[in-house]
Amino acid sequence: MSIGSKIIHLASVDSTNNYAATLISEGKGMHGTVILADEQNAGRGQRGAVWLSKPGENLTMSIILTPDNLSVLNQFVISQVVAVSIHDLLRKFGISSRIKWPNDIYVENRKIAGVLIENQLKGGNISVSIVGIGMNIGQMEFGDLQATSLRRETGEFNQLQEVLFSFLESFNRLWQLYLIKGTNEINSLYHEHLYGKNILTEMKDSEGVFHGIILGVEPNGKLKVQKREEIKMYDLKEISFIFRNEP
Ligand code: BTN
Repeated sequence: MSIGSKIIHLASVDSTNNYAATLISEGKGMHGTVILADEQNAGRGQRGAVWLSKPGENLTMSIILTPDNLSVLNQFVISQVVAVSIHDLLRKFGISSRIKWPNDIYVENRKIAGVLIENQLKGGNISVSIVGIGMNIGQMEFGDLQATSLRRETGEFNQLQEVLFSFLESFNRLWQLYLIKGTNEINSLYHEHLYGKNILTEMKDSEGVFHGIILGVEPNGKLKVQKREEIKMYDLKEISFIFRNEP
């Protein structure tokens, strides 16, 4: 079944990821189901943050995936397909973006989309993945946040439905690429657009601030960094880096 062949459109919900989890617990979480909300009143972001989005102006959605035989060791491919799909969508609208590990999407130094993936495991495999995506489309004002939207970047107003279908086209194509070719090609596309790759970047780990080089991301999602003479692997909460524009 293609992704998006079933779309549940809600006027208001706490979080589309929560709604998807309830559907799954009731045995109704069919692969490819998209839950789309005009408004979330408890939208969730990474690292326990809240996700704020002006009602009716942006895309807030969750996609349910039930991959066959996807080992937890390769689970990061889901993040990669999502991030590359958002990058591809923006390219179709003439916007050049970068992927900030693990799966934030930036236009220069402003965030345009964020992803919150919640996986359920069975044995050593991913049985269900809830892919939560927040994409800024029509919102023009973000207060103090370093954020942007499709409309801010292009100066044009696009219907949410048009952007959604264009995104689903990208997502289906890249998910098929993964199914047919495995993880390698998606992995290359992800690394092609990865912010800070092979560039000396200021970062902070539990030992303090340092200049390191992002070498890449491992199949399990850990960030591989050259720190002076050492090569280190970091989980999401173990490292942060100061985001700067490349010269
Ligand atoms: C982040 O960048 O911190 C991740 C943001 C993810 C937001 C989306 S909006 C739809 C889905 N439902 C949620 O509660 N969160 C995700």
